[in-house]
Amino acid sequence: MRAVARTARVRERLAKAKNVMVITGAGISAESGVPTFRDARGLWKEFNPLDYATHDAFERDPVRVWKWYDQRRVNMAQARPNPAHRALAAMQRPGRRVFIVTQNVDDLHEQAGSKEVVHIHGSLWRIRCERDGTVLENREAPLSELPPTCMCGEVMRPDIVWFGEELPRQPVERILHYLLEGGIDLCLVIGTEATFGYIVQWALQAREAGAMVVDVNPRDTGLGSIVDVHLRGKAGDVLPKLLQETEPEVS
Ligand code: OAD
Repeated sequence: MRAVARTARVRERLAKAKNVMVITGAGISAESGVPTFRDARGLWKEFNPLDYATHDAFERDPVRVWKWYDQRRVNMAQARPNPAHRALAAMQRPGRRVFIVTQNVDDLHEQAGSKEVVHIHGSLWRIRCERDGTVLENREAPLSELPPTCMCGEVMRPDIVWFGEELPRQPVERILHYLLEGGIDLCLVIGTEATFGYIVQWALQAREAGAMVVDVNPRDTGLGSIVDVHLRGKAGDVLPKLLQETEPEVS
């Protein structure tokens, strides 16, 4: 099927959809100037996650870990939603639910105006104390105190899921509850390698709940045969086309 026909098929499904699940990864924020992880110039190509994104690394050298996150926060503070984030926000309308699950630690979906956003890997803008459980929103970039300390005296950590850690319970329960409700018309999986089994699992559950599963990515991903329609391209180009009422172009 040609690209235009694939886009038209998804556009038709979206036009009638009352319930849309969206799963996003780093690729959706790439056009906002936020680096991805596993692309040619991705963060994990330059930085070893074992030095920056594990609890052991933090215990060994919290200042080194915090300097890395502080730099990411400084960059992120400049980032603004791109046409892909805005298209998802524009999909919300009376009588249609758009439920977004994001692996991203930015808040670009919220900035764009999306209302239902579940963060499964935490937030760059929250810091957490492991001793007394304090979680604070903190948007200072750069941080004035590095590493930041809690009122209890403990060094605080980024409220981000590191390798080897479990996903936070509350967001996962929200997702499972949503999936159990069923009746999902469309599941857009955007800008993620789908490296983690739970991403594939949730897309599969959405499919079992009735969804057409659509992968939006310039490349092939780990979603394989779960996908009904591949829309190849950058999210910022592809997603606005799903909202257009007539064929935008012939290719
Ligand atoms: P990856 O960096 O693994 O994958 C990014 C995906 O986005 C790739 O499939 C790219 O082809 C695609 N991509 C790049 N530019 C794009 C664009 N403009 N439009 C659409 N797609 C584009 O990022 P994730 O799959 O999100 O976890 O990685 C998942 C998790 O791994 C991250 O949340 C992070 C990382 O370790 C934590 O830090 C906890």
